[in-house]
Amino acid sequence: YLNQSSPDTMLRTALRKLPEHRTSEELELIYDEILHMKALTQLSDQVKQQLAAVLQFEFYHKSGETIFHQGDEGRSWYIISKGSVDVVIQGKGVVCTLHEGDDFGSLAIVNDAPRAATIVTTKPNCQFLRVDKYDFNKIHEEVESKTVRLKEHGKDVLILQKSLKTKEGGTSAYVGSRGQKRYNISAGTAEKIVNHILESLQPWVKPRHEENLEDFLLTFRFFTTTQKLCDLLLQRYNSEVVNGAECSRSLKKRVVYLVVRWSYISTHLFIQDLVVQNFLQVLRENIAEDIQKNLAYLELQIRFSCDQCNSCQYFNSDEVGNVLTVGETIQRYPSPSSHDEQCAIHDNDEVLLKIYDLQSSYTTVKVPICLTCEETVNAACEKINRSPNKMLLFEVQENNDIHAIPKHQMSVATSTKLNSRLYMCIPDERDELASIQLPPPTIQPTTCMETVSSLEIAYHVTQHDWQLMNNIHLPKLLSFIPINNRLFSSLKMYGNMFGFMAVMIGIGNQAISRLHGTWDKLPTKYRKLVDEFETILDPSRKHRNYRVFVSSTNSARIPYFPLLMKDLTFQHEGNDTFNKNGLVNFEKMHMLSNSIRLVVHGCSRSLDIIQPACSVLSSKTNKVIISPLNNQFFESTKTAEESRNYTREVSVITNQILLNEMSNKLEP
Ligand code: CMP
Repeated sequence: YLNQSSPDTMLRTALRKLPEHRTSEELELIYDEILHMKALTQLSDQVKQQLAAVLQFEFYHKSGETIFHQGDEGRSWYIISKGSVDVVIQGKGVVCTLHEGDDFGSLAIVNDAPRAATIVTTKPNCQFLRVDKYDFNKIHEEVESKTVRLKEHGKDVLILQKSLKTKEGGTSAYVGSRGQKRYNISAGTAEKIVNHILESLQPWVKPRHEENLEDFLLTFRFFTTTQKLCDLLLQRYNSEVVNGAECSRSLKKRVVYLVVRWSYISTHLFIQDLVVQNFLQVLRENIAEDIQKNLAYLELQIRFSCDQCNSCQYFNSDEVGNVLTVGETIQRYPSPSSHDEQCAIHDNDEVLLKIYDLQSSYTTVKVPICLTCEETVNAACEKINRSPNKMLLFEVQENNDIHAIPKHQMSVATSTKLNSRLYMCIPDERDELASIQLPPPTIQPTTCMETVSSLEIAYHVTQHDWQLMNNIHLPKLLSFIPINNRLFSSLKMYGNMFGFMAVMIGIGNQAISRLHGTWDKLPTKYRKLVDEFETILDPSRKHRNYRVFVSSTNSARIPYFPLLMKDLTFQHEGNDTFNKNGLVNFEKMHMLSNSIRLVVHGCSRSLDIIQPACSVLSSKTNKVIISPLNNQFFESTKTAEESRNYTREVSVITNQILLNEMSNKLEP
């Protein structure tokens, strides 16, 4: 059927030859042919010349022939030079048709993922130009377009973007196993995003580059529900028909891997979600069935309770075959016991609450921290033998603001402000609360800074902040969008930016900064330090100094939360979650995740700071400490336990009038 003498035939003859056998005229011919192809318009002439030398010809006689199947390994990239093909996806059927000049098949190569769709010819005599993986990778950087748009039924469903900046440039460049850059998700439907992430997961490749996955797990609540995600994961898990053959890269394994990563990122709060609990239950049953079918590669040990707390479930993937060793990826819960230690607050921890009446006498109730306001009121009323009918709880703050606590609010103890008091009365009595004057906080004579070393304070404050930070449910953090001169050096040394900024702000308070006589007594070396540290506090240019400092040291583990919350709020409000075509704006998700990555990565490491309490017997005080900073000795009058309690119980004065009075007393 070929006319031997036409230029078309000469071209095909040239393309059919092995590349190394092509003459220079033939290369020229191929070059002319591809010069104006739609799929190649953005490539330089030089790249087109390179392509001319490697392109191969592929011909399909019939309509309905399969070029490759979904799930196959990606071996080539194709350009349609004549005819058309259907893109077919399991469970969906034909999602789109590609025509002359279109290309397909680069996704699997670039992402090292299985083919995302089956490609079937829809016309007889289809012709393709094919570039094999090896050649593709050689000229990859230029061959590949910066943006890939996947369509289903005429509409964009996934837009992938090549990250232009490098890691040093500050964005999450996504580098593939052979060192080339991979695609970042730019926008897409929630379903397509999940599927793309699942298909590109490569738990067996190290180092792992899972920004897309991590960003998704942190932010998916912005655009889909946990229920929908769980349904989709189960559906994908069961969509793979397995026949007992070993399949180290199976989809089932990727699903399980994603769930394990999800549990690490979401902390133990992950499994407190009922939807997640049900999902895990079903998933576990499915896995158990598969294991019965002798699918050795699925032998995951999934533990659903640990010794310490019965409500805790977690995945342990000491897997046979050693392919999916999640444990070493992120050691968030190295063992159940240390997991338990990480809980700064447990649901059933009891707290003592002082509940005042209008005469300012109080009742003390001991209640589990998780009680609601209503349950707390009931407990208090029971104690004083009063009917809880109509009783409400109010928070009276130091500045005399009164705030009614909603009935269903949980954990009253942790949600009230510093130095405020709880009052219980009926709604009619609310006005009387306004006349209540809270007494100033008492300053205990024992809280004298000199008795505890700055290093010890910094250590215990950091330990405490660390525990608190580890109890932040990171995905939930996103949904909230709406002195002693050695102390701050030590906090900075421990990477506790939160504590560091708190101390610096405290020192900057007018009641302290006005104490010129005291400041003058400070050795110049410390005053210089203060000046230096103050520049970190400088809010100009969006806190540039702080950001430079944090990004220049690898040691910042606990960020300055108010600034973080401000950044997140700006990013959330300044960017739509969905673009105008209804696709999830995943650029926003990358942005939000980049902001909290410091927290995520901080949490995934252990707080391996050195405790200063290395007690050595001293003839005088019995309590000598060696500073880990410079191995110098200094004396402490406290034991580690005492200094820990000191940092926990130190009273905080937020009342500026009182602070000014104290300051005036020191230096009139
Ligand atoms: P790859 O995964 O290598 O193989 C199947 C190809 O189909 C895929 O790369 C894309 O190039 C192409 N394709 C086009 N539209 C879609 C779509 N909606 N979903 C998945 N793949 C698509």
